[in-house]
Amino acid sequence: MNNTVKILGCGLAKAQQKITNYDLEKRVETSHEWIVQRTGITSRYVTIDENTSDLALRAAVQAIENAKIEKTDIQAIIVATMTPDCLTPSTACIVQAKLGLNDLPVFAFDINAACSGFLYAFQLASDLLNRYKNILIIGSETLSKMINWNDRGTCVLFGDGAGAMILTAGTRNLYHYANSEGDLLGVLKAEGLNLIKDLQNLAPVEQFLTMQGNDVFRFAVRVLKESIENVLNQAHLTIEDIDLIIPHQANYRIINHVAKRMKVDLSKFYMNLQEFGNTSAASIPIAYAQAFEQGLIDEQKRIILVGFGSGLTYGATLIDKRGGEDCVK
Ligand code: COA
Repeated sequence: MNNTVKILGCGLAKAQQKITNYDLEKRVETSHEWIVQRTGITSRYVTIDENTSDLALRAAVQAIENAKIEKTDIQAIIVATMTPDCLTPSTACIVQAKLGLNDLPVFAFDINAACSGFLYAFQLASDLLNRYKNILIIGSETLSKMINWNDRGTCVLFGDGAGAMILTAGTRNLYHYANSEGDLLGVLKAEGLNLIKDLQNLAPVEQFLTMQGNDVFRFAVRVLKESIENVLNQAHLTIEDIDLIIPHQANYRIINHVAKRMKVDLSKFYMNLQEFGNTSAASIPIAYAQAFEQGLIDEQKRIILVGFGSGLTYGATLIDKRGGEDCVK
């Protein structure tokens, strides 16, 4: 697919309550030292009374301000989430309502590609830019709803939050890469609703996230490298041409392994997982917005966004800002 994009603005929302590793030591048999050594995470934010749409709204409002557009200029809203407020209506429609855009025709829907969701939304949105001038894409999660807070194997990893971008058409070509491997369905999943049997109401099933951490780890290292190499090949660039890589913020050791395998300095990978943990579909746009706030995304930057998640899904996007426009390859 060959089209163009410009990122007009970005924003992020932290969930209300900061939970440190020391807080988790009081809940499960773990230690700050173990979590830091095995993951790099020292804290995460967890919502108190905000749902996914509330976090999405806060990130969206910041992105709209940052883009210097009116909210009424938005023609489409895509929310990437695996923890929507409810099964229906979509979180994107709820965000539309909370933005006060009910009277306007807005193309609004959610997608679920788990932690790769924002990359999928980015790709979808860039394909829609010939029909909608300004598209709001949001990654928003309240993973705390689906975490078993008594399972030390998962509860130390995840957090809540949201990140958003406003996309419009740019002037250069763009290429994305995204895939999924359905044969790995079972290694990272959360049950949903039961099928109804003989028209009987069944008790809700367990909705907690379960994970085979080592399998996910190996998969992640493989597909992050594959995805980065794919967009580099499409763009006829090498890793040396890239200024910043914003990976899905799952685990410091995963990112370190990828850097070593690709023989790239680890400092090229932006990380804020120390503070946020893994916020699933929100992790890449939160990291992008934070890097933007820190002045790391200026006119001269070539950036790769890359991620993986349940499905198992994965993908990358290369953003080339050289030449005056955000150029996504
Ligand atoms: N605190 C203390 N000990 C813990 C622990 C915790 N929070 N979680 C697991 N352990 C224990 C295990 O029970 C195991 O103990 P045992 O040897 O007595 O059986 C030991 O630590 C090692 O477990 P292991 O699973 O091999 O640890 P690991 O080094 O692979 O780290 C993960 C576990 C989950 C951190 C790591 O596999 C990982 O990050 N995987 C990828 C997960 C991911 O990114 N998921 C999201 C995808 S979007």
